Amino acid sequence: MDSERKIPFGFVGLNGRGTGQLLTFIDIPGVTVTAVCDVYEDLAENAADIVNKKYGFRPAVYTDYKKMLADGGFEAVVCCTTWITHAEIAVAAMRSGYHVAFEVGGASDIEECWELIRAEEETGKHCMMLENCCYCKDELAIFRMERLGMFGEVVHCTGGYRHDLRNEILYGRELRHGRLDNFIHRNGELYPTHQLGPISKLLRINRGNRLMTLTSRASKARGLEYHLNNNVDGVEYLKGTRFNEGDVVDTLISCANGETIHLVHDCSLPRPYSRNYSVSGTKGVYQDAPFDNAIQFYEVKDRYGPNVLYGDDHWSKFSEYEEKYRHPLWTKYINDGVKEGHDGVDWLVLNAFVDSVRNDATPPIDVYDSALWMSITALSEQSVAMGGAPVPIPDFTKGKWIHREPFRRSIYCLEEICEECFE
Ligand SMILES: NC(=O)c1ccc[n+]([C@@H]2O[C@H](COP(=O)([O-])OP(=O)(O)OC[C@H]3O[C@@H](n4cnc5c(N)ncnc54)[C@H](O)[C@@H]3O)[C@@H](O)[C@H]2O)c1
Repeated sequence: MDSERKIPFGFVGLNGRGTGQLLTFIDIPGVTVTAVCDVYEDLAENAADIVNKKYGFRPAVYTDYKKMLADGGFEAVVCCTTWITHAEIAVAAMRSGYHVAFEVGGASDIEECWELIRAEEETGKHCMMLENCCYCKDELAIFRMERLGMFGEVVHCTGGYRHDLRNEILYGRELRHGRLDNFIHRNGELYPTHQLGPISKLLRINRGNRLMTLTSRASKARGLEYHLNNNVDGVEYLKGTRFNEGDVVDTLISCANGETIHLVHDCSLPRPYSRNYSVSGTKGVYQDAPFDNAIQFYEVKDRYGPNVLYGDDHWSKFSEYEEKYRHPLWTKYINDGVKEGHDGVDWLVLNAFVDSVRNDATPPIDVYDSALWMSITALSEQSVAMGGAPVPIPDFTKGKWIHREPFRRSIYCLEEICEECFE
């Protein structure tokens, strides 16, 4: 494989996130961007200016992604559009002959997820969700500690997206940003993947384990209405809007191997940012907290008796462990120089996709992972609507999770730590 060849990419969806990803992407060696597309022409033109400034040529500019796919001139597509358009654009890209990566978000309907699977299986084109949290420094250190057996047998994980997005949601029209209509019309776990991604990899989901059922409950929706009436100016036209999305949505997932996963979606109340990550095992516990992540490995110095009921319950700061158990990808990355974009993870996830395109290899987050993680949104909406009724989670691998083909070993691998690839 010629590692010097510049691979041409097309970009679709160029508002805040798409522009940020484009700025990160154009610094990756061995790629170029030959087409950009957004339904808003000014956003596409702005992206073309960014590409021109970097490479000295203007890419083709589109407002219709179907025309962009038909004209071609690239080998792969990066899609940073709104949640409800990812699957449609990814399927069209694969069926037009391109590899595709798309931003995080959930599906509206399970059929969208099956369409992704069929498109990938029938075309042989690769499809990857750009779940950047799978490449976070702390998450990868936790992953390494788990693979070293330090948590013992993991029985429960929590995760969540707890992010005060009230302004971003309410100024949706002004920012041309997609969340507002979802919060008006939908009610469920709208953004499951930031922590479900790392948890799924930790628990070997789709490779010897699978998600079986979920149940979701939503609190009442009051946060956005209160914020609108009391704290924000300029969006008076929204007054009286009924928001369907409960302020806190809890989802409990059961796995085939007996673990449970608790996800929380919490974006319309004031709060510090947290992805609520915790890993509970027979020998140790990790707990993400907004200001001080903590870890505990349980050591029994004297065996218990009726007079010695409690062990050493000293919690350590996770930062005391992170460096010692740092994933080699992060050791390499720190040595090479960490790039901008969500503490550096955007660079890693985009490079993981580029690496898979360059090698025509299955990406570390493949179509089965992507479809499964997206499906949680549609399924949780069904469960909330049925008062928390349990809902079965499809097996998108159609039984292959028991005996999957071997994963590709690379520095970006999320199944195991491929030490030999760093030598
Ligand atoms: N991984 C992360 O850390 C992270 C951070 C922020 C956003 N995101 C995700 O990135 C995506 C985009 O986020 P955003 O905040 O920029 O969203 P946004 O709603 O502000 O922008 C989406 C853009 O896509 C365009 N678009 C929608 N449908 C299109 C179509 N059919 N053809 C062409 N363009 C189309 C819109 O015009 C808009 O410019 C979302 O899925 C979001 O969840 C991920």
